[in-house]
Amino acid sequence: MTVTVKTPKKLIEVALPLDAINEAAAREKSIRHGHPSTLHLWWARRPLAAARAVIFAQMVNDPSWKWELEHPGEIPPNNIKASWAASRNRLFAIIKDLVKWENTTNEAVLQKARAEIRKSWRETCELNKAHPQAAELFDPEKLPAFHDPFAGGGAIPLEAQRLGLESYASDLNPVAVLINKAMIEIPPKFAGRPPVNPASRNNKAAWSQQWSRAQGLAEDVRYYGQWMRDEAEKRIGHLYPPVEIGKETAQERPDLKPLVGQKLAVIAWLWARTVKSPNPAFRHVDVPLASTFVLSSRAGNEAYVCPSIDGDSYRLSVKIGKLPADAKDGTKLSRGANFRCLLSGTPIEPQYIKAEGRAGRMGMRLLAVVVEGPRGRLYLPPSVEIEQIAKEISPSWRPEAALPNDPRNFWTVDYGLVTYGDLFTPRQLLMLSTLSDLITEIKENIERDAAASGVGHDTTPLDAGGTGSLAYAETIAIYLAFAISKVANIGSSIASWMSDRGAFRETFARQAIPMAWDFAESNPLADAGGSFSSAIDKGSMAIGYLPASIRSVAIQTDAAAQDISAGKVVSTDPPYYDNIAYADLSDFFYVWLRRALRPIFPSLFATLSVPKSEELVATPYRHGGKEKAEAFFLAGMTRAMHRIAGQAHPSMPVTIYYAYKQSESQSAEGTSSTGWVTFLEAVIHSGFVLTGTWPVRSEGAGRIIAKGANALASSIVLVCRPRPASAETISRRAFLRELNQVLPAALDEMTRGSGDDRSPVAPVDLSQAIIGPGMAVFSKYAAVLEADGTPMTVQTAYRLINRFLAEDDFDHDTQFCLHWFEQYGWKESRFGEADTLARAKGTSVDGVKQSGVLFAEGGIVRLLKWAEYPSDWDPTDDARLPIWEALHHLIRVFKAEGESGAGKVLAAVAAKAEATRQLSYRLYTLCERAGWAEDARAYNEIITSWSAIESAAAAAPKAHQGDLFG
Ligand SMILES: C[S@@+](CC[C@H](N)C(=O)[O-])C[C@H]1O[C@@H](n2cnc3c(N)ncnc32)[C@H](O)[C@@H]1O
Repeated sequence: MTVTVKTPKKLIEVALPLDAINEAAAREKSIRHGHPSTLHLWWARRPLAAARAVIFAQMVNDPSWKWELEHPGEIPPNNIKASWAASRNRLFAIIKDLVKWENTTNEAVLQKARAEIRKSWRETCELNKAHPQAAELFDPEKLPAFHDPFAGGGAIPLEAQRLGLESYASDLNPVAVLINKAMIEIPPKFAGRPPVNPASRNNKAAWSQQWSRAQGLAEDVRYYGQWMRDEAEKRIGHLYPPVEIGKETAQERPDLKPLVGQKLAVIAWLWARTVKSPNPAFRHVDVPLASTFVLSSRAGNEAYVCPSIDGDSYRLSVKIGKLPADAKDGTKLSRGANFRCLLSGTPIEPQYIKAEGRAGRMGMRLLAVVVEGPRGRLYLPPSVEIEQIAKEISPSWRPEAALPNDPRNFWTVDYGLVTYGDLFTPRQLLMLSTLSDLITEIKENIERDAAASGVGHDTTPLDAGGTGSLAYAETIAIYLAFAISKVANIGSSIASWMSDRGAFRETFARQAIPMAWDFAESNPLADAGGSFSSAIDKGSMAIGYLPASIRSVAIQTDAAAQDISAGKVVSTDPPYYDNIAYADLSDFFYVWLRRALRPIFPSLFATLSVPKSEELVATPYRHGGKEKAEAFFLAGMTRAMHRIAGQAHPSMPVTIYYAYKQSESQSAEGTSSTGWVTFLEAVIHSGFVLTGTWPVRSEGAGRIIAKGANALASSIVLVCRPRPASAETISRRAFLRELNQVLPAALDEMTRGSGDDRSPVAPVDLSQAIIGPGMAVFSKYAAVLEADGTPMTVQTAYRLINRFLAEDDFDHDTQFCLHWFEQYGWKESRFGEADTLARAKGTSVDGVKQSGVLFAEGGIVRLLKWAEYPSDWDPTDDARLPIWEALHHLIRVFKAEGESGAGKVLAAVAAKAEATRQLSYRLYTLCERAGWAEDARAYNEIITSWSAIESAAAAAPKAHQGDLFG
């Protein structure tokens, strides 16, 4: 006999304080100090606040759990429901504290949450103590471990560790694995230890202070990072000389006069790429491809490049003051790679630039230099000497790995920048190689220092589980290498200058490598953003915030083939279809990290570039077209989900995030929803039932709209349980009936919240969120059978669910009536308002009036009640018959003649039957919400009598004009 596991309902399957979570997640975006995202970049990280709240709510029992297990299928009495709501509010209070960034290291808050998790765990163990595998699965003294098989930037495993769980993070991508090692695996090994560097050891106060978590480690990263920076300056600092303000420069720029003779540190060199002029007369001249000549557009500090032409040469100077109209466009003619020759005005077309680039004839020309002046940033003119220094450098190493030929995300390849090395200037290459060489050198010093301190001499490497001096030196090396990644992100020739802010736009300002025509070369030795020092500062601060508590592990493995999830709590955030090309993008960092860290992690960095073939991203260029990419994603994601469903701890639900672009919610069938539907298909086909869905936002709704539809700022958290083997099969009709029962209430709850323990879903998230309850119905069945016996596809189910919300299904007149009704009910209002609304809905007041549902006279408009509709109406003779009219005639006839009369109406409007029923649901929900009880009753009657009306319609004689209702 198999003993089934008793599974208490979890809080996340019932309620969540969404507002508090969303607010904290949105706030977190602006946290710059101590956030793990400042350790190393990863694309589309989920907010810690959401990860923390979701794991907590996934592990904590809902107050209703006991009653629900003892009274399956029963409706709970109201007094019990009220006590649950009160208990939920207590749990919500814990979550509301937990999600705040300030409480990230607040032990009192965290302990409260951990205690709640342990309490629920003990309840679950008690419930399952008779289970044959109780010793292994339900040990009340040992919480199950946690696993995220798509760990990425590590937000979720980190929060699991913080909540007291042994955390396992896995990812296919070595860069992601390294980030997770640095966040959860390595810090606990060295937690609570003082720094080993000589300065701290010789400082009595520092030596004797309490070093909690990984603060000692953080201090060492700071110290050795500073050493590296200083050493780099000694070796190559002469290539980053300050600019001396000369008299000549000051002649053209009176504002610089007081500074003559001063040497000012360079923050950035601003370059434009060049090609040979296409004009035969100037074929020998390299002309700039400058998308703007504006250097600073900040009020009071405007500066711009001013070219002056002399025959076949040109000089660039920098002017300050009001920006001339033509400065904005530089030498750009129009969008894309369309420029003009600075000397002749001849258009420079994209094909020409591509050909020049591929032939290796694209160069660079210095436009200006940004320096740190006594009162802020100054923009100085270029000089031949400054330019020469940069151009004469020849680095001894460059990453030769090829950029992918993926025109969607990598735009430089067409222009001849075809390797990762091509994305950097010679000086940038030299700096990055120098820094990575220094890592190798400093490791020995750190090892010596560590051996001389409390760590002790031990040559076991980190990769072999070491925790002694060598492992410590290797650990510091990893965090130092992360600082190199940060320098690379700002210090590539894709990074540009934001003239409105006076700051760098980093390489990965978007999740792609675009082409930058004019770029900003940063000075990593300067005391400014983009410098090595600031990377070290930010990184070490983030290390200090890590929990560094419980032994945890990061592993490189394919989620479609892993067996780490066995018996673990799983929360994960898989790739979003084709949205982010993680493996390709991460090569930008991998090539540098590999150079510095391969001796430490030989197998993680074994391959020349990041492994790609198993990456679960629907990348058309890799799979030979869109369809093949979709098939690959579906098959792989289904396998990955199957692995989770089959292994995860049987008493806990699994939570899965899926981030989507707002644009995807706007079309039910368009290609943009392909990713979401394919993903749902994978989840459902792998044997999961959805038991909850929550839209979680990392940005305020207003900002999502302001940013346009493409921000990956919302995600849906799907709460899943394995589908029981006893799941039934139902028909399409029964499925639709259940949808129609479930969705109005779900929609109502989402838009209104329910009781004081649920917050409403923001309207922008509604159309995605409604898919959850619909798919919960669909997924609980082994299959939904179509009329011909074939199983319904997820795509069809998606469409049917979406239709419930989509008012596009209704004709224009009905849309008008629905909105009018929502605002005014049956009351009158002014013509002007009706007119505006009618236009917005693609109809006119006159037109709606003609259809017979509207009173409009003397500037007054109101909807006609069904009792006012003409009793001699003949549907076969009605040239303008909106669904609104059909439904209200149906109600009129139903009231007078019952089901048989209504059946005749339905038979006559058969083509509109489904929409009529939908409208009735919509109106019922609307009236109920507005407290219009009488109207709600009328619509409800239609809904509850629908089957009978349908039967009457089937039995009704075929309608002939004239004999219908006469
Ligand atoms: C959406 S990201 C995870 C982001 C993460 N939750 C965070 O907050 O940073 C998805 C991850 O899945 C990884 N991935 C893609 N295909 C994979 C596979 N076959 N096995 C394991 N991981 C994979 C990608 O490398 C990426 O890091």
